[in-house]
Amino acid sequence: TDGPLVLGIETSCDETGVGIVRGQTLLVDTVASSVDEHARFGGVVPEVASRAHLEAMVPTIERACADAGVRLEDLDAVSVTAGPGLAGALLVGVAAAKALALGLGKPIYGVNHLAAHVAVDVVEHGPLPEPTMGLLVSGGHSNLLLVPDVTHDIRSLGSTIDDAAGEAFDKVARLLGLPFPGGPHIDRAAREGNQLAIDFPRGLTAGRDMQRHRFDYSFSGLKTAVARWVQARQESGEPVPVADVAASFQEAVVDVLTRKAVLACQEHGVDDLLIGGGVAANSRLRAMAQERCDAAGIRLRVPRPGLCTDNGAMVAALGAEMVTKGREASRLDLPADSSQPV
Ligand code: KG4
Ligand code: ZN
Repeated sequence: TDGPLVLGIETSCDETGVGIVRGQTLLVDTVASSVDEHARFGGVVPEVASRAHLEAMVPTIERACADAGVRLEDLDAVSVTAGPGLAGALLVGVAAAKALALGLGKPIYGVNHLAAHVAVDVVEHGPLPEPTMGLLVSGGHSNLLLVPDVTHDIRSLGSTIDDAAGEAFDKVARLLGLPFPGGPHIDRAAREGNQLAIDFPRGLTAGRDMQRHRFDYSFSGLKTAVARWVQARQESGEPVPVADVAASFQEAVVDVLTRKAVLACQEHGVDDLLIGGGVAANSRLRAMAQERCDAAGIRLRVPRPGLCTDNGAMVAALGAEMVTKGREASRLDLPADSSQPV
């Protein structure tokens, strides 16, 4: 196969990711995570994440190159997540990428983290249809993105107005006494539960809320409803049916996510929906999205779970697309931007 040989670095949150692609072919995806160091705090601690990136950065680059059989001097370009994300964490990756690019005399591409979550699917399912609709759901974001061209034209149709979808999973898991990060635990518990047991609210889906926030999401009301329900149970001395609460909560989140994503495809005449971000690993989300896309005649693309969570391959994949499409490289003084818009 051919195409540019690109190494991508991702450090926007708690994963130190280094991926290498050749064009749209993934050669290696190496991830070192500090998630265990954050678990006892119940969330990611920025300072801890930055220090962990600094320690893991060079060994992760060396391991990626060794596993792929690639020498640094053979790279055509280096790409790196420039934002959005945790400021200190981003700085470690951006500084490392600059050092590499400067030392090797190769171009550097600073890329957007959300765009990279979309672009990664080229290594799994081939070239992205233009336009593609992207539903990005993770611990940090919940966005509906209209993507005419992932390398330079992405339009945000809506996003969460409070908690991200993954954040809601993590908070409800905590309420139910499940470990951090809670998404996978809710997913597992829900398999033993009844999703119709409790009718939890679907935020921003009716009346004026829907009119004003057609493609926005809201999950904090849902989280509060779950908290109240659990508390009422505890006060009455009855046991909390964890599996039923998990299944009913998950159903509410997944219902709203898929309903608005399919509606966005229909209203914008887009035939392809791509779901990415850590929550895309959710088994109920995958199943309901497939059902609703089939019913609406929309093709669904979901990368495998390891490419949905934060990783370096997604940054390398987007970097390679930019090289291939002839986009301009970044300057070596490129900043990290923790709130970079898509
Ligand atoms: O993309 P990601 O690895 O990091 C961020 O950029 O946030 O996403 C992590 C989030 C966490 O909130 C985690 O609970 C959630 O993705 N998650 C899941 C599942 N696996 C991970 N949520 C629901 N179901 C899952 N199976
Ligand atoms: Zn992410």
